[in-house]
Amino acid sequence: MFAPGKPDRAAWIQGPSARCNPLPERAQEPWRLILLGAPGVGKGTQADLLHKRLNACHLSTGDVFRAAGSRAECDQSPAMKAALQYMRRGDLVPDSIVWEMVLERSGCLRCGGGFLLDGFPRTLAQAESLKQLMENQRLDLTAVLNYRLPLNEIVARLGGRRTCQGCKAVYHLTELPPKVADICDRCGGKLFQREDDRPESVKVRLEAYEKSTAPLIEFYQRLGILVTIAASGSPEEICDRTVTALEDRRKRSSARDRS
Ligand code: AP5
Repeated sequence: MFAPGKPDRAAWIQGPSARCNPLPERAQEPWRLILLGAPGVGKGTQADLLHKRLNACHLSTGDVFRAAGSRAECDQSPAMKAALQYMRRGDLVPDSIVWEMVLERSGCLRCGGGFLLDGFPRTLAQAESLKQLMENQRLDLTAVLNYRLPLNEIVARLGGRRTCQGCKAVYHLTELPPKVADICDRCGGKLFQREDDRPESVKVRLEAYEKSTAPLIEFYQRLGILVTIAASGSPEEICDRTVTALEDRRKRSSARDRS
């Protein structure tokens, strides 16, 4: 979702030959965060709010695939065409395709403004590859935010989600409705339902999360960087909860460094 003044993330969405506009500001201590959690828990909504508070860039692998999907077929690589088939069904895209895409955009991980990785990593193999890459680049992950919500609320969030065709702003039919039905408040674009939010794809996505992504909770817990956040309440409440947890963690780690 794009707010005025928010970097357009061109280098992430289109690939490294594109230049972000505006270029993200360099931070003294950039936040480098992963947002973990089941499909529909609200990671994208939080990434958008966290960007405004922490200034780090929202890097979503799902957004890269969706942007590629909206291009003409002749402009899609064979790997991207295959990825889109997996995505429509709700299955995870194979690690090799995802990793090639992330590696190509690894400049975004070095960005001086920091990052909010949303939807990546999603398997242990992806998490290992990212860990290796960050170690090679001497970059530290600040924390991994693990958003938790009961399953029935997750399913309700996915079923009611609507996205703007133009600016990609995300709404919910009952929880976060637009002022005029089916029309985006921000840009006047038409709202649509994501193909993978149909019940048959949602089932596959939730199963894939349990099987392949939930094990990352333990992976990051072992590394001592997991921060679990209750994803209930309003988006602003959840964002406040997240920022408080992150600031507490940073204060504790600075106090440890001083002692
Ligand atoms: P991706 O785009 O990453 O989707 P996802 O992880 O399934 O997450 P969602 O975007 O569905 O949900 P979200 O948690 O961001 O929730 P949102 O904020 O929109 O991936 C899509 C697909 O791409 C995958 O299935 C896979 O095929 C492929 N893919 C991507 N990355 C991959 C990888 N690394 N490896 C392999 N495959 C990969 O919120 C949901 C709804 O709830 C919205 O309507 C919102 O308005 C509403 N809402 C949000 N917060 C609240 C709140 N606090 N109260 C009430 N409503 C709320």
